[in-house]
Amino acid sequence: MHSKTGAAALGSMSGRARIHNFGAGPAVLPLSVVEECRDALPNLSQSGFGLLEVSHRSPTFQNVVDSAMARVRRTLSVPEDYTVLFLQGGASLQFYMTALNLLRPGEQADYLVTGGWSQKALKEAKRVGDAQAIWDDSVNGFRSVPQVGEYAVRDDAVYLHYTSNNTLYGTQFHHLPDSEGKLLLLDASSDIAGVPCDIAAHDLIYAGAQKNLGPSGVTLVILSPRALSRVGDDLPTMLDYNVHASKGSLFNTPNTFGIFVLDRVFNWLEENGGLEGSIARNQEKSGLLYAELDKTDFWRPHADEGSRSVMNVTWLIHDDALEPVFLAEAEAAGMGGLKGHRSVGGIRASLYNGCQLDSVQALISFMHQFESNHR
Ligand SMILES: Cc1ncc(COP(=O)(O)O)c(C=O)c1O
Repeated sequence: MHSKTGAAALGSMSGRARIHNFGAGPAVLPLSVVEECRDALPNLSQSGFGLLEVSHRSPTFQNVVDSAMARVRRTLSVPEDYTVLFLQGGASLQFYMTALNLLRPGEQADYLVTGGWSQKALKEAKRVGDAQAIWDDSVNGFRSVPQVGEYAVRDDAVYLHYTSNNTLYGTQFHHLPDSEGKLLLLDASSDIAGVPCDIAAHDLIYAGAQKNLGPSGVTLVILSPRALSRVGDDLPTMLDYNVHASKGSLFNTPNTFGIFVLDRVFNWLEENGGLEGSIARNQEKSGLLYAELDKTDFWRPHADEGSRSVMNVTWLIHDDALEPVFLAEAEAAGMGGLKGHRSVGGIRASLYNGCQLDSVQALISFMHQFESNHR
């Protein structure tokens, strides 16, 4: 089931061969998807038009959008009456757009602040209404996510917003937060299609594609009818979910390349066991890595055990002077993208859908060797 990373394929013509890429995003894609992109560049689906040169109004591209939408719905079990959009501006634009569309001035919105991205989402929502953190773990270095019962949604809140996976700190929700009947909003940028997610239990989900779904520049947004019906009138055109929904994500020129790649990634997922296959692979990869980290106190995993992420594994080395050595030796051994985010430091291995088991095995045997050399 696991295709190889293609370490020896593509890219060996000039410079180094493909590395084991643990970058946090844009991130490694399945090699077969990269090859499909290459093949479509001069001529997309035998249309005569190249992938980068085809009109978004053409039947050829409409087929791509339709296919991508259908695959998203199938793979993620999106309820029929939910709306699927492919937007631009990244998850960062959604921080503001969600609030602008769902909140009126003075109305309340509650946020679970579990890392830098939810802090940013909250900051943007404050521009629109009375947005507040009802749980914030910054004083503890964002090592955990809250359990149900550790926060209370305000009676008049319109929605509860959370970030399912905290890309920077390597923590993740393994349960559904309780929005107490309010709309439930989710930033799923770094674990969409990589972990179980009950779409029907949410009202708005957004995710930048560049980790689990494709390249940067396309953002998947999924809305419930309840959320869409709250969208206010007379919003700036490009920030209005109803505008994009009424035009099938083709109100203006979309990221045609990004939508093509997203369709191919979902096709790859479907050919490899669907969401269940992806969940099982991500559990296996992260399970192996955490087991290695837990073996000795040479390594210091960052996240508390019950909140550990299967997508971004973060850790320190007992002697922080060894961290640059680790990164340099890993790079020389063909492993890249392992430097922790600048706000956290240490090491981070991102194990998104495109990251194959053989990459994780290579990392673990490197760690083994590193530990015995530097103990
Ligand atoms: C959880 C999460 N939310 C939001 C963002 C910001 O995404 P973008 O760069 O697409 O705006 C990121 C990027 O890493 C992320 O991991």
